[in-house]
Amino acid sequence: MNEFLTETVIEAAADALRRRFSLAPEVGIILGSGLSAVAEAVEAEAMIAYPDIPHFPRATVEGHAGRLVVGHLEGQPVMVMQGRAHYYEGYSMAQITLPVRVMQVLGVKTLIVTNAAGGLNPSFRPGDVMVIRDHINLIGMAGLNPLRGPNLDRFGPRFPDMSSAYDRTLRAIARSVAQEAGIPVHEGVYICLAGPSFETPADIHFLRVIGADAVGMSTVPEVTVACHGRMRVLGLSGISNVASAEGENIATHEEVLEAGRVLAPRLETIIRGVLQRL
Ligand code: HPA
Repeated sequence: MNEFLTETVIEAAADALRRRFSLAPEVGIILGSGLSAVAEAVEAEAMIAYPDIPHFPRATVEGHAGRLVVGHLEGQPVMVMQGRAHYYEGYSMAQITLPVRVMQVLGVKTLIVTNAAGGLNPSFRPGDVMVIRDHINLIGMAGLNPLRGPNLDRFGPRFPDMSSAYDRTLRAIARSVAQEAGIPVHEGVYICLAGPSFETPADIHFLRVIGADAVGMSTVPEVTVACHGRMRVLGLSGISNVASAEGENIATHEEVLEAGRVLAPRLETIIRGVLQRL
């Protein structure tokens, strides 16, 4: 695949999917590290492994199942990505955001993105959920923006507005669903780094100072493309570990997956509640 997405590539992937299901998905859901259990709750019409979809990236990280589940959840037609690809796996920005473009051409209007993230805000605890109020596109500021390259005018504008990337109404619904269910919930700013190395204590100090509450290695490229395509976005971070500026906590991938066991049912509750109220 070329460095930039083309309509030919997007349509090839979308066509392959149109042959596999007839349902018209309205809500796209992307499940992050250790969080893929939510997809098991879908009344599935089709399950398609990523390698069977032209040009789709394969999720190579443990904790990412790597298939698309299409069906109904809480009565809503959904398209769920059980696992995602990351930039640090060696994929281009175009490859990791292709699934969002495919959702867009298949008619998805609302995107729910989840991730596992390190808590930077000192009040966050592992197992908490953060509704993303806004993000800092640190990875994109330095040039890694999935919209770099020829603009696909059919999909969105050259200079898309990012002033309200995360839908205010969806955020309010997510918070109230969480509160009613007794799930510890915060709202805050997510920051995306390229990874795969975790942060140094000095990195963590810097990220706090510039206003981030949670740090991870995904989501922002996908949300940037979703905003370009004028989708409504809800972002949910599962806080899997606490990032320490004093070097006291050592983040590990195992810890991220372990926290996923607590977080997956919490995120499922929130996602179901949001879908009920759409
Ligand atoms: N840092 C970056 N990404 C992460 C972390 C972290 O501490 N936890 C889960 N994803």
